[in-house]
Amino acid sequence: MGFETVEDVLNQLESAQYIASDEMATVVFLALATQKPVLVEGPAGVGKTQLAKAVALCLNRRLIRLQCYEGLDEAKALYEWEYAKQLLYTQMVKDRINSVIKDAPSLAKAVEKIAAQEDAFFSDRFIQPRPLLKAILSPDPVVLLIDEVDKSDPEFEAFLLELLSDFSVTIPEIGTRKPVTIPLVFLTSNNYRDMSDALKRRCIHLYIDYPPPEREMEIVRTRVPGIEKKLLERLVKVMHRIRDMDLKKKPCISETIDWARALAALEVKDLTPRTVDQTLNLVLKYQSDLILIRQHIAELLTACPGPEPC
Ligand SMILES: Nc1ncnc2c1ncn2[C@@H]1O[C@H](COP(=O)(O)OP(=O)(O)O)[C@@H](O)[C@H]1O
Ligand SMILES: [Mg+2]
Repeated sequence: MGFETVEDVLNQLESAQYIASDEMATVVFLALATQKPVLVEGPAGVGKTQLAKAVALCLNRRLIRLQCYEGLDEAKALYEWEYAKQLLYTQMVKDRINSVIKDAPSLAKAVEKIAAQEDAFFSDRFIQPRPLLKAILSPDPVVLLIDEVDKSDPEFEAFLLELLSDFSVTIPEIGTRKPVTIPLVFLTSNNYRDMSDALKRRCIHLYIDYPPPEREMEIVRTRVPGIEKKLLERLVKVMHRIRDMDLKKKPCISETIDWARALAALEVKDLTPRTVDQTLNLVLKYQSDLILIRQHIAELLTACPGPEPC
């Protein structure tokens, strides 16, 4: 299971309902061929997360996702010791433990004797693998999505960089675990903060911007197949104009899809000032943006003429 050519990537992604550009498909192809991680940057809602999901679907690989946030640490991302289970086992083998230490002449000697048995309690049995460890211990290669890495702290990013260099993990009590399989890694960033140069060097870089109108139309068509061509054309044109305006939050692809769905459900044949006004709350999520665009509806529609002038 894989991709034969860049063209093949494009076609397979399309059958997974993901409309990629040539650049995106080339990056995916090369990432797989070179086993390099991909760092996908771009504004919210342009399809960064979805790209990793669609690639996993095409490759028939499991997707393991690590959602990043401020304060995320190695324990949550890599592995945790199962303290409760360790405690339970200790309780259950209490008699055995007592027999180990019963001849110890002092407390210090008793501790020493227990320490000699430590391996029994710090073994794979008591490790709870988190997404990163799961990904490299998986017998079948997975797609590992490290989502919104820019939300994590720089220390976590440094740790990731180390992990991505050879995918081996050192667990102090047990030793180094080599990867069973190498995952195809996607890291995404909305640019809340800049990623380090070292991380950028390690990855193939892909910037996804809002799609050009033709591609956005294709994307909407995959999700709202019944939509009239002329209505879709006009809708996407208006959307692009809206994105050029000075908004608090620019509408993204999911908003175009939602808008198209709503217009289709309302059986709207063309955009009119009234239909736009009625449905604009699906496109804009801030009251100040809504107020601004409501003042410009007529202008927007004149700038993007429809099938029949309204
Ligand atoms: N190229 C694309 N092809 C198909 N659908 C897309 C594409 N890009 C974005 N989408 C749609 O937009 C939605 C938002 O994309 P998402 O991956 O969550 O954005 P991001 O991770 O960049 O914030 C997806 O659920 C998907 O429906
Ligand atoms: Mg995302």
